[in-house]
Amino acid sequence: MTVPPICDYEGSRYRTEFWVPERAYEDGAERAALRALLPPTGRLLVEIGAGFGRLADLYGGYERVVLLDYARSQLQDARERLGEAGPGGRPRYTYVLGDFYRLPFAPGLFDAVVMVRTLHHAADAPAVLRNISGILAPGGVFVLEFASKRHLKAIFRYVLRRQSWSPFDPQPVEFVPLNYDFHPAWIRRHLEECGLRVTRIRTVSHFRVGFLKRTVPTGLLVFLDRLLQPTGALWQLTPSVFVRAAAPADRPPAPPGSFFRCTACGSLLLVDEGDRLICTDCGTAFPFQDGLYDFRGGER
Ligand SMILES: C[S@@+](CC[C@H](N)C(=O)[O-])C[C@H]1O[C@@H](n2cnc3c(N)ncnc32)[C@H](O)[C@@H]1O
Repeated sequence: MTVPPICDYEGSRYRTEFWVPERAYEDGAERAALRALLPPTGRLLVEIGAGFGRLADLYGGYERVVLLDYARSQLQDARERLGEAGPGGRPRYTYVLGDFYRLPFAPGLFDAVVMVRTLHHAADAPAVLRNISGILAPGGVFVLEFASKRHLKAIFRYVLRRQSWSPFDPQPVEFVPLNYDFHPAWIRRHLEECGLRVTRIRTVSHFRVGFLKRTVPTGLLVFLDRLLQPTGALWQLTPSVFVRAAAPADRPPAPPGSFFRCTACGSLLLVDEGDRLICTDCGTAFPFQDGLYDFRGGER
């Protein structure tokens, strides 16, 4: 099996260099969409590609929150900022180093899965969507943000022949290595193919234009964006789209007591040895170090 390449954020200054004040509008608009789509309370939530935990303060209604990312430095940053809390100070955070192509969780586990600004790094997005569908509990909710290729700027650029690829072609476009934009209809088709039902769509970042962001107060732009977001149910012409999709209610839940799954053999029988989890079926060991479970490799 060929493993798709990974866009590794290890050591990147994503928090301080990407989330500069000039992106406060995008941050605000994305938070508004997530608030509108995510069930406010629940038992267990995972964010896949959580980075430094930018959005974690929106998960306060969940008993337990799992933040999964491939980059150790991102999760370390998240852990330093959020801590672990625990029974008294809900929610309880669990930090997992992992790969969205090999999710280390029991099938049918999560009430909610969130993925924001992450699918665009997937060379094999259908595989990622299948994996996510698999870990959703019966009736569980998946809130996905994806970068859309069919937005107004791309349409204008294409019409004026300043861009070679068509925003109307359903196939994903890799505009720089390991950065993909997707067609909304293509995403919907792949969500449905893995058994998920799209229930709501919000379009986000209607005003991602330098001039507007410099001249209009951020709060007002976010307010206007929030008003326009529900039009996503009718048409999608923004660079960012949020969808809410639901897993079937009649699928089996995760077996009682299960949580992690061995990424080497698929077993749900992992024994906690303090500084590592050991798979009792195949013997693979997954380190637990500095508060982070590490499922990216595994040693025999
Ligand atoms: C643009 S950041 C988004 C972070 C966060 N969701 C946010 O919106 O602030 C993308 C994240 O995806 C993670 N990522 C990329 N490839 C991954 C993979 N194969 N498995 C898990 N995480 C991955 C990166 O490490 C990075 O932290």
